[in-house]
Amino acid sequence: MALKITVIGTGYLGATHAAAMAELGFEVLGLDVVPEKIEKLRRGEVPMYEPGLEELLHKHVAGIEGSSGRLRFTMDWAEAGEFGDVHFVCVNTPQRHGEYACDMSYVDSAIASLAPHLKGPALVVGKSTVPVGSADRLAAYLAEHAPAGADVELAWNPEFLREGFAVEDTLHPDRLVVGVRGERAEKLLREVYATPVAEGSPFMVTDFATAELVKTSANSFLATKISFINAMAEVCEAADGDVAKLAEAIGYDDRIGKKFLRAGIGFGGGCLPKDIRAFMARAGELGADQALTFLREIDSINMRQRGRMVELTRQELGGGAFLGKRVAVLGATFKPDSDDVRDSPALNVAGQIHLQGGQVTVYDPKGMDNARSLFPTLGYADSALEAVRGADVVLHLTEWREFRELDAQALGEAAAQRLILDGRNALDPEVWRKAGWRYRGMGRPTA
Ligand code: UGA
Repeated sequence: MALKITVIGTGYLGATHAAAMAELGFEVLGLDVVPEKIEKLRRGEVPMYEPGLEELLHKHVAGIEGSSGRLRFTMDWAEAGEFGDVHFVCVNTPQRHGEYACDMSYVDSAIASLAPHLKGPALVVGKSTVPVGSADRLAAYLAEHAPAGADVELAWNPEFLREGFAVEDTLHPDRLVVGVRGERAEKLLREVYATPVAEGSPFMVTDFATAELVKTSANSFLATKISFINAMAEVCEAADGDVAKLAEAIGYDDRIGKKFLRAGIGFGGGCLPKDIRAFMARAGELGADQALTFLREIDSINMRQRGRMVELTRQELGGGAFLGKRVAVLGATFKPDSDDVRDSPALNVAGQIHLQGGQVTVYDPKGMDNARSLFPTLGYADSALEAVRGADVVLHLTEWREFRELDAQALGEAAAQRLILDGRNALDPEVWRKAGWRYRGMGRPTA
């Protein structure tokens, strides 16, 4: 009989994982403690913008016409406990307020709520990004609190999906990593992932600690790549070099590779920034803090780029105060193809200029509602053209395709001054110059 799967937590990770598991043919029950989320999901509505996810939900959510009916949602822990052969824990692990460490309270409470309802054999699989050592602790908790005792096993199976590509990354993962203690756990997870494994996704079996560390070290490496190229951008600024050419040239060496070497205002979002901080905090607890002190520098290079963008804007406007200057900001989300504004470099730059007296007008294709609720005092426009109308300077801060396809001529006629600063080095300088704009990228003073 096909495995029954529960997915606990229906945010980015959980909602996508639940829909993907239904797509793979399993009976799935998603659980969340937020009633509004469950109500939306039951109607097949996605709580956030993620390409392809709504279609996948419509294909499987029970009660929607023409669906497979394999995916249902609940708020009832007893129902989840009884239903699942495999329980995926997909709740978030944000940064703890006022600290670097990660807040484990959602994971802990999910495990505590589920445990008393595990009355028969089951596998609990953690997917959340957690400090190394958590799986060990949670396995001991389950052994003590689940009525089925040793028949309940734990595994750790980190998730590597990117926002904007969540569905694709979940259905066709570039690797599967499972931290297990027993053969039964491995066997069940091989069954869950049989389809992607048959398509060629590597399946790696490790211990708990290694599985947990794979996730935090992967995100640390990505963060390091971005801060490396941003440090090179700072040197290019000082030496009249061109960081975009530099990145292309070093990227031809396939040991280095071209990806994740786009210089600009740096990384943000709900993962990279908090994950490198939590990793440092955990290494400190383990007495290995020296090993990760470099991440402190990665973090500070990253955060510095936001201030550098503000200063570049000031300098290009002739120096002095922002008071009375009209600034158009294109992009509010932390990356394109997402409506996520958590720790968004774009909104941070917009906010800094606004707080210094600039009249800032923001436009983003999908992030307007989230941006407005996070930063209600900024100005907002319904289109790029409206944001640019009357502006003294245009800042390109999130590289949406829509912005690459803008009509530079029409925008030039609307702007007070044809000055565009590219905080993502993603626009074609020639296109803008031909339309009479002064174009300036970050780390490309002469380009
Ligand atoms: C990241 C990882 O890429 C995923 O593998 C991981 O699963 C996920 O975190 C997670 O831990 O859940 P995500 O946060 O969706 O995924 O975003 P990324 O695509 O990694 O981008 C992060 C930030 O880096 C964005 O603000 C982006 O604009 C910036 N970035 C990216 C650059 O500034 N330069 C680049 O060359 C690439």
